[in-house]
Amino acid sequence: MTDQQIIIMGFMGTGKTTVAFELGRELNCRAMDLDDLITEREGRSPKEIIEQDGEEAFRRIETKLLREALQEKSARILAVGGGAWTVVENRKLIVDEGALTVWLDAPFELCWKRIEAGNEGRPLAPSRDVAQTLYDQRHPIYALSDVRVPVSENETAREIATKITRGLSESE
Ligand code: S3P
Repeated sequence: MTDQQIIIMGFMGTGKTTVAFELGRELNCRAMDLDDLITEREGRSPKEIIEQDGEEAFRRIETKLLREALQEKSARILAVGGGAWTVVENRKLIVDEGALTVWLDAPFELCWKRIEAGNEGRPLAPSRDVAQTLYDQRHPIYALSDVRVPVSENETAREIATKITRGLSESE
């Protein structure tokens, strides 16, 4: 297997961060979460940035740190927030750097259940209807990824990571 960077993406609540770290353990390489990097650098979480400065300001920071993480190869595996891949400039950065995109494709009901139960606070999914609309809008864009990994409720992060490694060897 090469050292090609792997981007884990998909809607809120698909388990991107947990799966990215599990994949890092499996492939014995460093994994990182872009939202964590944003929080560390900005001293505020994505939620706080969006609530205080708006989504546009958040997207500018997200793109800047995505570019940095890709160019500096800060980690081989990078989980990105649910909106990152939907921004044209970000997709271009990822493709230009030759990274491989893995889409965790979970049904809306599962995402919503986790969004509702989670205490992370997702300002862009304040209600079921808003989240559903966003999910439907983003679905075809997520589908532009290199590898699609279906995610269901009873699968562990480990099982999903194993599916990804299988998917990776098939895409090689
Ligand atoms: C966002 C998802 C969040 C975070 C921010 C915006 C989105 O990350 O980046 O709140 O636009 O879907 P998660 O997908 O990890 O919740």
